[in-house]
Amino acid sequence: MPTQPPWWQRTTTYQIYPRSFLDTNGDGIGDLPGVIAKLDYLQALGVETLWLSPFFESPQADFGYDISDHFAIAAEYGSLADVRALIAQAHARGLKIVLDMVLNHTSAQHPWFVASQRGRDDPQRDWYIWRDGRAPDGRAPPNNWRSMLGGSGWHFDPRSGQWYFASFLPFQPDLNYRNPAVKAAMLDVVRHWFREGVDGLRLDIFNAIFKDASFADNPFSWRVMPSEANPHGFFQRHVHTIDHPDTLAFARELRTVVDEFVDPPRFLVGEVFGDAATLKRYCGEAADGLHLVFLFETLRTRLNGPAVRALITGFERAFPPPFSPTWVFGNHDRPRAIHRVHGHPERAKLLAALQLTVRGVPFLYYGEEIGMVNHEMPLHEGLDPVAARFRRMPPPLVGWFRRHGILLNRDECRSPMQWHGGPNAGFTPPTATPWLPLQRGATTTNVAAQERDPDSLLWCYRQLLALRRAEPALQAGALTWLDDLGLPGDVVAFRRTLAGDPRPTADVFLNFGDRDVPLELPEPAGRTLVSTLRPAPLPAPHTYTLRAHEAVVLVAAP
Ligand code: NOJ
Repeated sequence: MPTQPPWWQRTTTYQIYPRSFLDTNGDGIGDLPGVIAKLDYLQALGVETLWLSPFFESPQADFGYDISDHFAIAAEYGSLADVRALIAQAHARGLKIVLDMVLNHTSAQHPWFVASQRGRDDPQRDWYIWRDGRAPDGRAPPNNWRSMLGGSGWHFDPRSGQWYFASFLPFQPDLNYRNPAVKAAMLDVVRHWFREGVDGLRLDIFNAIFKDASFADNPFSWRVMPSEANPHGFFQRHVHTIDHPDTLAFARELRTVVDEFVDPPRFLVGEVFGDAATLKRYCGEAADGLHLVFLFETLRTRLNGPAVRALITGFERAFPPPFSPTWVFGNHDRPRAIHRVHGHPERAKLLAALQLTVRGVPFLYYGEEIGMVNHEMPLHEGLDPVAARFRRMPPPLVGWFRRHGILLNRDECRSPMQWHGGPNAGFTPPTATPWLPLQRGATTTNVAAQERDPDSLLWCYRQLLALRRAEPALQAGALTWLDDLGLPGDVVAFRRTLAGDPRPTADVFLNFGDRDVPLELPEPAGRTLVSTLRPAPLPAPHTYTLRAHEAVVLVAAP
């Protein structure tokens, strides 16, 4: 048997936004008992690792990404006992649990910041990034550093006459990692949750942790809008605030902390932005940094044969073993994945097949498996603080951003999970009011309806996830192109090979074109063909017509 790569490289991850998953106490807000109640559903779906967006104590001004106590659980989500029950019950089913850890900043209501804000002499003043404003009167920000949303990242505090820095929103002040006490306190948080038994952490805006100690201005750039591939923008290169060498060193330091936990091994996945080479640096030259980083290029790539092939080639080049790419088509900040394929059901299945058969760790977002759509609404109706910040933006521009993968109101991708066609889609009791409105399509697009329909997207996900669990080659095999079959450019075809495994190969054909393609199948004897357009596998024939938007996988017969 070949040596198995670690579990976190072979796993499939499903992101739960707890607030929107299932409400069990009728307050309209999803909760931890709701996640526990759906563990059987998740196990049957076939995902293996659950990442939960933050449920820690928080004023919820950014719905949990503004933590005020990293050790306590916000009452609206449940209790520490619920978290422990979740970990135990997930583990009993063979599922792993990943928490979302916001290391970069806290809530402005965190006792640390409250103390820090008390005055220049407070012992915790230096836990955050405070500076005098520019001369002559200090009423201009200390330098030109911008927040990730544009505008100055500095905020004036009239009480002390100084400014504090926030990479995201003003109520999320950045911690000062140059203070050893801060670093130690946050490493304590990390160790605490690993001791509680969690299997991994997703690290929020990890690229912003260290700012340059010189506080020099960021250099001017003509670049207007930041993107996944290039986080610079708003007319500057964020060289002193993003991707700082000390942040890269911190990734390695954090790794040594994670490596203290060996049974079972744990992992870190970083939210970072940039081109593949920049992202790779977070994983460390010697694979001694973050275990995984999100590769958000997937969120904007065109979904045609040549573009997908170029994307895979780029990821393979940048993240060869022992590194691993990640595959993401949606999350709690981005438009729903189904819009990438204009709601086309067969192309949605094709996208699922790409994500679940290509080399790398897939990250699914709740509701993706039933094709949930964006719940579009006017900006002023949004509860999202980002929507409030951009509330004056004209609707056509909001639409333009949405079409280009940027949600100015992230409520749109956070609408409640659609469990059935009844009242409140089963998310919350009929008499309760869900914290965000349900989608109008919930009566038809829901889990119960799709469970009854073998042609549904949900069935397709289940089939693909089961296939991946059964085929070590799909979890961990090397990827080579099936180039000698003379296929048109619309068809992306590759072989996954795990040398030495009793089931060493899986061949994958993904038809991104609008036309059927005749295929001579390689080595069909004794193999099974699984198709996104068929509810059940069939013995592999010698020739096969690969339909428009169809994906097929060929594996050894069971
Ligand atoms: C990135 C998270 O994904 C987003 O939801 C959050 O608002 C910001 N970081 C700030 O923590």
